[in-house]
Amino acid sequence: MPPAATENVPAPAAAAAAPSKPEAQPYLSTMPSSDFSWQITLANKVVAITGANRGIGLGIAEVCLANSAKFVYSFDLMEPGEDFAELQKRYSNFRYIQTDVTSEESIENAINKVVEETGRIDGLVANAGMTKHQPALKFDREQLDKLFNLNVYGAYFCAQIVARKFIELGIKGSIVMTSSMTSYRPNRAAPSAPYGATKAAVRNMCHTLAMEWSQHGIRVNSISPGFVQTAMTYYVEKSPDWDLKMQYYGGMPRLADPRELGGAYVYLLSDASSYTTGIDIPIAGIVGAW
Ligand SMILES: NC(=O)c1ccc[n+]([C@@H]2O[C@H](COP(=O)([O-])OP(=O)(O)OC[C@H]3O[C@@H](n4cnc5c(N)ncnc54)[C@H](O)[C@@H]3O)[C@@H](O)[C@H]2O)c1
Repeated sequence: MPPAATENVPAPAAAAAAPSKPEAQPYLSTMPSSDFSWQITLANKVVAITGANRGIGLGIAEVCLANSAKFVYSFDLMEPGEDFAELQKRYSNFRYIQTDVTSEESIENAINKVVEETGRIDGLVANAGMTKHQPALKFDREQLDKLFNLNVYGAYFCAQIVARKFIELGIKGSIVMTSSMTSYRPNRAAPSAPYGATKAAVRNMCHTLAMEWSQHGIRVNSISPGFVQTAMTYYVEKSPDWDLKMQYYGGMPRLADPRELGGAYVYLLSDASSYTTGIDIPIAGIVGAW
């Protein structure tokens, strides 16, 4: 039974004596505005991507830049290499801030720097991650701690810290996390039970964050890549039975170019996805859908 409508109404005397409350801030409407542009674009948007000095992050950065992002920042621990420099030659609005996503202080400093430099931040891709392949019977606590610290805690604190910033600035921000097809099923080519668990945690936390933060106009989604050609998958094509495995898996018998994932990130970061939150998009050329 719902409580009687009068139950929470204070008596007039009590109401008069109550200390004055700070005025409640109205939540941001998630509806598109009347002058909304229906083009899928990142024009005027400032986006930060963790781990974008190489690999999938760099591929996402390139596609964001090709779709008119105002600035794209890579938050990465590693010094930028040649691939980063090559993209920056084409896009001077691609920037790097040395960041360790396993440190809340470092994440906060990086986000503050973006806002200092550009006046805003509209999107964050929590992408930095690592794996370790070995039989489940061999993993020790230290190895698990390392994986969870980067893949799960890193993604969580990036999301929490940028969400606080979105709320402070009154920005309807978008958060996208890089999960993995291993969050659904084992990677038969190179199993790693703890890695799959970290990616399932990433995919799962998006549901609840999306639910809690929708009242602030913040959306949270994830993308689950299959096999993508990066340093992380160096072993795949070297494997002597690679062709056979590909035949066995079915689907597209190749690794993805990291940029082939980019369109989905652009969509989720753009205002075109204003009613899309709490979902995962698997991108695996069917190969990863083992
Ligand atoms: N490659 C694949 O096939 C594949 C498939 C599914 C999911 N993923 C996920 O995609 C993401 C990117 O993977 P990738 O293949 O591009 O890997 P990668 O190793 O090529 O790139 C990872 C980047 O993260 C950075 N990084 C590592 N620790 C960091 C830290 N503490 N702070 C900031 N940056 C840090 C690295 O310096 C590097 O630039 C990861 O989360 C990974 O789990 C990859």
